[in-house]
Amino acid sequence: MNNAQKALVLGGATGLLGQAMVTILRESGWAADTVGGADVDLRAPDAADALSLLVDKLEPSVIVNAIAYTQVDAAEEDVETAFLLNRSLPAMLGRLVKTRGCGLVHFSTDFVFNGKKNQPYTSDDVPDPLCVYGKSKLAGEDALLSLDLPRCLIIRTAWLFGPGKKNFVSTILQLCKQKKSLQVVHDHIGSPTYTLDLAQYTLKLLEAEGSGLFHVVNSGMASWCELASEATRLAQTECLITPVPSSAYPQKATRPAYSVLDCEALSRLTGIVPRPWPRALREYILKAFPPAE
Ligand SMILES: NC(=O)c1ccc[n+]([C@@H]2O[C@H](COP(=O)([O-])OP(=O)(O)OC[C@H]3O[C@@H](n4cnc5c(N)ncnc54)[C@H](OP(=O)(O)O)[C@@H]3O)[C@@H](O)[C@H]2O)c1
Repeated sequence: MNNAQKALVLGGATGLLGQAMVTILRESGWAADTVGGADVDLRAPDAADALSLLVDKLEPSVIVNAIAYTQVDAAEEDVETAFLLNRSLPAMLGRLVKTRGCGLVHFSTDFVFNGKKNQPYTSDDVPDPLCVYGKSKLAGEDALLSLDLPRCLIIRTAWLFGPGKKNFVSTILQLCKQKKSLQVVHDHIGSPTYTLDLAQYTLKLLEAEGSGLFHVVNSGMASWCELASEATRLAQTECLITPVPSSAYPQKATRPAYSVLDCEALSRLTGIVPRPWPRALREYILKAFPPAE
């Protein structure tokens, strides 16, 4: 390890993606410290000072921000907190790295798009978020881009599953233990993504000294129903997954009906073609939910 390989991962102890980032960084020989809600309440007025002190003490070469307000429906009512964590926090981190000269990795979302396209979204497509969560995440991207930082990766990702925290796949498999059948939405299509693959590809972007906006997801696409069906098949459960339209399950926040992301910019810079999501899902399920003997 050298001094250039020291990361401070925000959300690294408890977040779904933060934990994957810490795992991959450490496996790759990096030192990775973590900070999260238990250490600093980033909604507090002195949060910027607390973070500055931490950065001065730990001297990371890169800050990885995997903290966000991720409750998409709750954000419709709690607009202020959503914008505080999704816009003000990255803006504050941007100002911090500018003065300290370290790199920054920040994650954003497919929910910045309106879903009206029917081909994968590239990082050149114009965002048009439909909900508060998407708007607050886009405001975070814009705040960082306006600072014109020399070493700042903004990575849009989507539909995460992986170890360490409840997610869509683990929820479906848990429900399958209690029910014989489940109805799952078939008319929303996206890019299911394994957190450990995303962390690996993020590290490659860092090593390639990437800067700017990138889309990083596993390849392929699926509806929520297809993702749930493949998960139950791989976990060998008896539960029957049946398709329903999203209109059968009205939610507070409007989500894009189509939000598949195109990783062309990632491939161009690193040569990586992300592996297909069903292969990544297989690895996750075999490790986290091995079939009963
Ligand atoms: N999950 C997805 O499907 C998905 C899809 C697209 C994009 N993304 C993006 O990927 C990134 C990571 O998402 P994720 O799903 O890994 O998030 P997550 O599991 O919900 O983790 C969020 C993290 O933020 C921390 N946090 C929340 N409020 C905080 C506060 N007031 N002070 C300090 N820490 C706080 C949480 O810490 P505590 O546990 O201590 O509260 C947790 O570590 C986000 O930028 C998200 O927008 C996620």
